[in-house]
Amino acid sequence: MKKREYHIVINRSRDAQDIWKDVPAPIRGKLIRTFRIKLFQNKDLLARIITSDSKKIYKEAVGEVFNAIEMCEFGQGLSRQLQGLTIPSEKQDHSLKETWHPLGLVGVITAFNFPCAVWSWNHVLSIICGNSVIWKPSPRGINVARKCKELWDQSILEFLTYNKVRHTQGNRFHLQDLLQIIEGDNEEAEWMAEDVRIQLLSATGSTEMGKSLATKVAARLGRGLYELSGNNAIVIAPTANIDLAIKAVVASATATSGQRCTTVRRLLIQTSIYEKVLSRLIEAYKAITIGDPMDNKNMMGPLIDIAAVNKMHEVLSRCRGKGYIIHGGEIKGDCCVTPAIVEVKEQCELVRMETFAPILYTMKYIGLDNAIRMNNIVKQGLTSSIFTDSVQEAEWFASATGSDCGMVNINVGTHGAEIGGAFGGEKETGGGREMGSDSWKQYMRRTTTNINYGNEVI
Ligand code: UN1
Repeated sequence: MKKREYHIVINRSRDAQDIWKDVPAPIRGKLIRTFRIKLFQNKDLLARIITSDSKKIYKEAVGEVFNAIEMCEFGQGLSRQLQGLTIPSEKQDHSLKETWHPLGLVGVITAFNFPCAVWSWNHVLSIICGNSVIWKPSPRGINVARKCKELWDQSILEFLTYNKVRHTQGNRFHLQDLLQIIEGDNEEAEWMAEDVRIQLLSATGSTEMGKSLATKVAARLGRGLYELSGNNAIVIAPTANIDLAIKAVVASATATSGQRCTTVRRLLIQTSIYEKVLSRLIEAYKAITIGDPMDNKNMMGPLIDIAAVNKMHEVLSRCRGKGYIIHGGEIKGDCCVTPAIVEVKEQCELVRMETFAPILYTMKYIGLDNAIRMNNIVKQGLTSSIFTDSVQEAEWFASATGSDCGMVNINVGTHGAEIGGAFGGEKETGGGREMGSDSWKQYMRRTTTNINYGNEVI
């Protein structure tokens, strides 16, 4: 995109937000409801475009659209609950209250692996909170973004048919600019990071990308919300339901062909059950079907591109000296690979970095204190799981002295995000929170109002 066109996008975004911030939040919720219906009506088409852009299997693509649909449902409910506190004032005849106001322009940068859902998490909250959105999708998710924009524009027209919005009469197309797409790559992302007119920049991607953008956002004292790398572990404890654990590990390791920030990359198994778990895991891996992502019998599709295949290949060849490849790692053509299991003695540099591919490192632990240390030793802090039937172990793992991740799962795999909870992680994962709970507060500005209803200056 040319810089001149970029400035036009920003100006239009500001005009649209000027109108939008004045609309009552529950009415803003009705726009999201209209958009939800559009998404539902177009779910199959949208899922096909997701599969074609991101190469994820169709079933997962449908799941991704439903995730966006559910995000809209959450957003509509939330539109009536953007509540602030009333605080007892220390002064005679005064009151003190908090109000949440729209923030302004929100820049959203998304990755190839979730071309629709992650944008929807940010978009829905932004719109409910009275902001406008400038979305820079991954160039490999561009068709998904264009389709979402088309559905958005249709939703605006329908919404305006049933709802009166001040200042839009005769000018109804302005509100479509509440969502605009920036087609571009790193350069455009940097423009957004440096742009003081963008109040919040929400970025999903690698830690490297996040650090480079965050520096620019911080230099102008802007707000950032980062959802970056993960290097997630699953702990399998002696009392675990092994059937449940194996199913969850396979799904968390191979969904989206291991290209999720929530993918499980490290499996920590208690020594006494190590051999048993591993042989069950290998059996399960042998049954994984890989190939055409549109073919419903396949559990895994290809990696995103040949560079990803080469990276996996390179990491596995470096593993050979440090660990033992127990299973997989074969290249099957058309960017398809068999998911790999690598046994390691210690968490060497390769284990500590995030390789965006289906490589699962397995290792032994003795006591839970040891497993917690192993879980926490990496730089990333997105999500973690423990499989155990022991209340003590489960509670410890989820406690302040347990996992240091943003998300902890008990008898649940690492992947798959619940709309109602806050999604995100600590350390090099970036610290941002998206979707549920009170994540919406990041998309608003807080005003503290002090009112004197007496006649004294205190
Ligand atoms: C999920 O696992 O359901 O890039 C969502 C990612 C995350 C989204 C994961 N931003 O994989």
